[in-house]
Amino acid sequence: MNSIAKEPVWIPVAPVSEFPEEGGACAKVNGTQIAVFRFSSRNEWFACDNKCPHTGDMVLSRGMIGDSKGEPKVACPMHKKSFSLRTGECISGEEYSIKTYPVHIEDGTVYIGIEKP
Ligand code: FES
Repeated sequence: MNSIAKEPVWIPVAPVSEFPEEGGACAKVNGTQIAVFRFSSRNEWFACDNKCPHTGDMVLSRGMIGDSKGEPKVACPMHKKSFSLRTGECISGEEYSIKTYPVHIEDGTVYIGIEKP
């Protein structure tokens, strides 16, 4: 065995009820602001950096979520650049990207997966 997938460390952030349906909220995990999205219509959750790489503003949790050809995305509320919530890649044709994180729900609590250092 020469490659072992890194298991994330699961950090509890808040109860599910703290997150609006079809919307996002910001959670602070280890000093980093993370935008967490409750994508009720897809029955999925996503998380990414709250910081938009365009200007560095902490705004993505207030972005509009939707989908682009089946790909879940968030559009920044400032200048509407869109990012895939799966890969973090900018899908409005620019070279920016954001970091995404796995989300896990257990016993009504939202957990964010952070890579072990
Ligand atoms: S600050 Fe996000 S698109 Fe400009």
